[in-house]
Amino acid sequence: MCSERLLSKLKKAKTVAVLTGAGISAESGVPTFRGEEGLWQKFRPEELANFEAFIRNPKLVWEWYNYRKQIINQVEPNPAHYALVKMEAHFQNFHLITQNVDNLHRKAGSQQIYELHGNIMRNRCVDCNKYIDDIYFTNSEELPVCDCGGLIRPDVVWFGESLPQQVLMNSFFATKNSDVFFSIGTSAVVQPAASLPLEAKQSGAYVVEINTEPTVITNLIDESLLGKAGEILPQIVSKLLDS
Ligand code: OAD
Repeated sequence: MCSERLLSKLKKAKTVAVLTGAGISAESGVPTFRGEEGLWQKFRPEELANFEAFIRNPKLVWEWYNYRKQIINQVEPNPAHYALVKMEAHFQNFHLITQNVDNLHRKAGSQQIYELHGNIMRNRCVDCNKYIDDIYFTNSEELPVCDCGGLIRPDVVWFGESLPQQVLMNSFFATKNSDVFFSIGTSAVVQPAASLPLEAKQSGAYVVEINTEPTVITNLIDESLLGKAGEILPQIVSKLLDS
């Protein structure tokens, strides 16, 4: 699955950047957001992942997050996550940018991770902004409340909210400086993350997509590898390390 062209680009690369999306965790058993299997009780992610939805119906939004946290707590990283750990060890400059909030890159052992959309295991108060470690409650009738009386929300980025500025700046910087850029398991429709592969392309990187289906960026980049990340990435890494 690793073309000679990609292998030669990787061998010469000083800086490699990777953008991951929900698809990289699909083989671990975490549902993606879009597509039939991605729907939760017929809600689209845009309907739940926003502040207005939370204020209107915090119970519903917490039920969705508790459902996802329950899955995430039971799953393990897959060969795609581990292949990225090996890549990080191999390259002089390696930057892992993720839209995922599922903690699986960290669990696999990746060291430097730019979490664009936050982390589902962290929470914060909507009023005083205090950070609160993982909380788990089964009865979503009793919503978690901060000492100050404010509602506690997951520390993730919702639609209409800004991404963490420093993380975003680091991600753009890494992208623009990359020699090879991978876009893995993302539908590439949610901005600003979706603009990173094209930013990389414009800056001269060799841009490779790994996805089970073509996406909106497939025709705009250098190489599209159609298939499962958990199968393709380990093949690329072993070819690179054996060469
Ligand atoms: P999506 O659910 O939009 O896309 C997942 C992509 O992974 C699809 O293009 C699938 O074809 C692909 N895919 C599925 N299984 C795969 C596999 N085994 N190997 C490779 N690719 C596979 O997820 P994201 O692009 O991550 O944001 O969604 C972006 C953002 O939208 C999320 O971070 C989340 C969501 O709303 C917020 O909540 C703010």
